[in-house]
Amino acid sequence: LPYLIAALVFGYLLGSIPFGLIITRLAGKGDVRKIGSGNIGATNVLRTGSKKLAALTLLGDALKGTVAVLLAGFYGPDQAVAAGLGAFLGHLFPVWLGFRGGKGVATYLGVLVAIAWPGALIFAVVWLSVAFLTRYSSLSALVAAVAVPIGLYLLGYVQAAELFVLMSLIVFIKHRANIARLLSGTETRIGGKG
Ligand code: G3P
Repeated sequence: LPYLIAALVFGYLLGSIPFGLIITRLAGKGDVRKIGSGNIGATNVLRTGSKKLAALTLLGDALKGTVAVLLAGFYGPDQAVAAGLGAFLGHLFPVWLGFRGGKGVATYLGVLVAIAWPGALIFAVVWLSVAFLTRYSSLSALVAAVAVPIGLYLLGYVQAAELFVLMSLIVFIKHRANIARLLSGTETRIGGKG
């Protein structure tokens, strides 16, 4: 148990690095929390007008999840899962930002790559398809978050499916405001004004 808690804390610390905030600040774009949706994720960094910064944010926020799982994985599969969950929660509730973090999509994907990569493939295909059709980043993430646990289960990754049911549920809760905007037709599209 101490190793599991250590892995969770290690993952949390990695996950709580707010790449979107750091990258936009370093690039002189100010505080990303003051624009668009106010979120610190890649979608909102894109609203600064920089695709490069958005891509870097996506990469950083995803890789911290991947790295947490892979490093903790040297101690065993349970530690890997604990670190992945920790990284996801760290991104969502970073102590450094008064526990007001991101919505978890990139980190979810990064953890998924390391735990069950076919799930990440499902995520990517579904996300890209929905984004291509609707240009809603939030809707793409929500549909992908439904598809991933189902896909994992069907592919026989039963334990991973259970973990990602939990993480998908949290992604949905974090997207409450987006869901309300989608339902009222006021959600911002990728490439749209925001
Ligand atoms: O990954 C976050 C995305 O689903 C929504 O971001 O900034 O539009 O709330 P945002």
